[in-house]
Amino acid sequence: MTSTNTNTEFDFIVIGTGIAGLSFALQAGKHGKVAVFTKREALKSNTAWAQGGIACVTAEDDTFESHLADTLDAGAGLCDESVVRTVVSEAPDRIRDLINLGVAFDTNADGKANLGQEGGHSERRILHSGDTTGREIATKLLEAAMAEPSISIFEHHFVVDLITTAKLGLASEDRVIGLYVLDCKGGTVETFRSNRVVLSTGGCGRVYLYTTNPTVATGDGVAMAWRAGAVISNMEFVQFHPTCLYHPEVKNFLITEALRGEGAVLIGADGKSFMEKYDSRKSLAPRDIVARAIDREIKKTGSQCVYLDVTHQSREFLEERFPNVYATCGELGIDIASEPIPVVPAAHYQCGGVKTSINGVTSIRGLYAIGEVAYTGLHGANRLASNSLLEGVVLAKRACDHVLRKMPVEKANREALVLPQWESGDVQDVDELVVIYHNWDEIRRLMWDYVSIVRTSKRLQRAATRLGNLKHEVQEFYWNFKITTDLLELRNLVDTAALIVDAAASRKESRGAHYTLDYPEPDTTSAPVSSMMRRF
Ligand code: SIN
Repeated sequence: MTSTNTNTEFDFIVIGTGIAGLSFALQAGKHGKVAVFTKREALKSNTAWAQGGIACVTAEDDTFESHLADTLDAGAGLCDESVVRTVVSEAPDRIRDLINLGVAFDTNADGKANLGQEGGHSERRILHSGDTTGREIATKLLEAAMAEPSISIFEHHFVVDLITTAKLGLASEDRVIGLYVLDCKGGTVETFRSNRVVLSTGGCGRVYLYTTNPTVATGDGVAMAWRAGAVISNMEFVQFHPTCLYHPEVKNFLITEALRGEGAVLIGADGKSFMEKYDSRKSLAPRDIVARAIDREIKKTGSQCVYLDVTHQSREFLEERFPNVYATCGELGIDIASEPIPVVPAAHYQCGGVKTSINGVTSIRGLYAIGEVAYTGLHGANRLASNSLLEGVVLAKRACDHVLRKMPVEKANREALVLPQWESGDVQDVDELVVIYHNWDEIRRLMWDYVSIVRTSKRLQRAATRLGNLKHEVQEFYWNFKITTDLLELRNLVDTAALIVDAAASRKESRGAHYTLDYPEPDTTSAPVSSMMRRF
């Protein structure tokens, strides 16, 4: 494989084009040159797929205290209260920033925000743009970033690994100094230099067989941060969304929780509602509770799925408020105005990630993590619905303010280290493509079977053993063959899956999104934050 040692330097490097990365880039672009890398097209992100909306206290009778209390309750005792307080109280300012960029949230006839309701929220506080809120936000942010001359967006550029002083064996404080990037179309690996690198790569839903996430969600940021020696926390808490469409052809279409906010009820194949057996908030309980209840009902009754019934609402209302769900289900032959929607839980959100401060600061100097890739302490053991877009935009601003304070651009960068050229092993093409696909499927299936909604120590042990073997195989590919997008994603998937399994095995209690039959109760003496770090 060709390796070009361009050593091109940027003041800031951002990896990922979701709400967090683009918000950071827009602010940083006022102070220096920014490179934004994304492995496919810029609008292929979890942000662009978000249906529900963005939580923010705007109603007159709503309060920050109430948003705080709902977040802490959903987080099952593991949220960092001061982080939650900061994020919910900075929300209105960040929403104003988005509106100033042209983001159009739905309003009522009186001009006030049309607020949605989702599980775990005690008030209506979800700003939305129909049921394609993420697409509206991502599009407006991208348009603004593309109009900014200081920002260069590199589509089809996959970051292979971070370059840090520790990796180079330098004795000084560990800091990030650049990265290796595969130009997916040109097939070359280039070296880029920067002392300020932001991970905003989203989550890892694709580690599981069934997920609401787009194909890009392969845990890239967590995996590369882990390989670079950053602290990773709470990866055991993978949130399963209760209502992914159950359909033989379409496997990852989300049925937004906002439908339940408008009165949709979960029912079994017998047509009877069942959530009242599990929680007084019924279908609007926090996601971990609803997903577990559905899992239980499916196992108990032997049915393939449960159903979400929203037929009490008029066709006109559904078409206007949920145009995406209405049309997509309609194309698949499901008329949501007259029949219940078949649904199953599916992997949805990574609540843990690269451990950061409230300013996105990681354990490696100059490396920031914001959005789903990060663990700030906001979500604890289970994320409150629609708090994720909010965290992305709040943390982007805080991280940019922090990096400008600590590492001002006008100050000369430190000594210009010559970064080593990327080295590949033997440069032959992978002739056994089938093996990559097989390994990919094996990881996703074993994670689904052994490490999903209900876990046991024995299943986790099995998963760990199999992942250990797969890791060796993938490493061998990585060093011996020409790297491709598929191979890099496989490498990140296996590293991320192993982190989830290790974290799950070390948490000897059940809490939030982590439930194990061997330790079915919460244990108040267990550590609130699990931390893992690779040592060189
Ligand atoms: C949804 O629309 O149900 C998803 C919202 C979220 O994950 O916050």
